[in-house]
Amino acid sequence: MSEQQQEQKTVVITGATGQLGRQCVKAFENAEWKVIGTGFSRASGSIQKLDLTDSTAVSALLSSTRPSVVVHTAAERSPDRCATDQAGTTALNVDSTSLLARLCADMGSTLIYISTDYVFPGTPGEAPYSAGSPTAPPNFYGATKLAGEGAVLDEPGGVVFRVPVLYGEVEVNGESAVNTLLDVVWNAGGKAKVDMDHWSVRYPTNTADVARVLVDVAERYARGMESKEEMEQDLPRVLQFSSEERMTKYEICQTMADVAGLPLEHVVPNAENDLNAAVQRPYDCHLSTQELKDLGIDVRTVKFRDWW
Ligand SMILES: NC(=O)c1ccc[n+]([C@@H]2O[C@H](COP(=O)([O-])OP(=O)(O)OC[C@H]3O[C@@H](n4cnc5c(N)ncnc54)[C@H](OP(=O)(O)O)[C@@H]3O)[C@@H](O)[C@H]2O)c1
Repeated sequence: MSEQQQEQKTVVITGATGQLGRQCVKAFENAEWKVIGTGFSRASGSIQKLDLTDSTAVSALLSSTRPSVVVHTAAERSPDRCATDQAGTTALNVDSTSLLARLCADMGSTLIYISTDYVFPGTPGEAPYSAGSPTAPPNFYGATKLAGEGAVLDEPGGVVFRVPVLYGEVEVNGESAVNTLLDVVWNAGGKAKVDMDHWSVRYPTNTADVARVLVDVAERYARGMESKEEMEQDLPRVLQFSSEERMTKYEICQTMADVAGLPLEHVVPNAENDLNAAVQRPYDCHLSTQELKDLGIDVRTVKFRDWW
């Protein structure tokens, strides 16, 4: 392989210590990319420590590695934590994304920015949302991710990749808003009653499936970047990926209890929308995957029940 070909197969993955980033590292390595993974508080071993809010350090890493693709998964993504640390969340979710977008544009690298279905309001009757549907985030987290999208789309070569709630291999169940429900079903705390949302619908999507699709997107868009005109004209700038399995949190608990053979009497379905909740969540943000299908990318996902 020539030196230039090797350079075209280099990917920097931010958030490589996180739930999605870890799967991305595996998937890109399996696809024989040279992977430079970065993390922050959990960085160790082959994963480099990089504070994305330190612009000098970010710039130094990119200019020394000159990747053809950057997959930017790092973010503060808990709506509750985002609401209580708005400055920190903006610095990571918006400012660092904007910096990466500028640096990638300057180097001719493709930036794939992981965004969320929470850029949409999720109002009953609106879903599924196409990539071009009007956005209106329901909370501060969604607003910062949407601002990050704007920064990416302002620069040439940036691609937005939206996903819904994620589940899959975790270090601890609390890492995923879906896996964490297993702890509720297991009920180690011995609670008599746990109120569970049976109102809003979700499409839990496996992180290994997301990572597989991201490799396909990277292969496609890194090629497209050989001609910026081709990318601007032929390749969509906003992509969406989602499972098609529609479930409330209560139905997720039911599936887990069924698979694990555990009782579920302590989990009580609540079909009411909690209008008093500190952070409002949408009803249904189902994402259309049409753009990926049009690109010929396989959007199939593992069946939720089968994975568990
Ligand atoms: N999880 C979901 O259900 C979901 C749903 C929709 C969209 N998304 C989007 O998907 C992406 C990945 O989410 P995830 O669940 O994998 O997140 P995660 O598990 O919470 O991981 C977050 C990552 O960001 C890193 N990070 C935090 N602060 C940093 C800083 N100052 N500098 C550099 N890195 C920093 C963390 O590093 P350390 O842990 O080493 O500190 C970690 O690797 C995010 O962009 C999120 O918005 C997630």
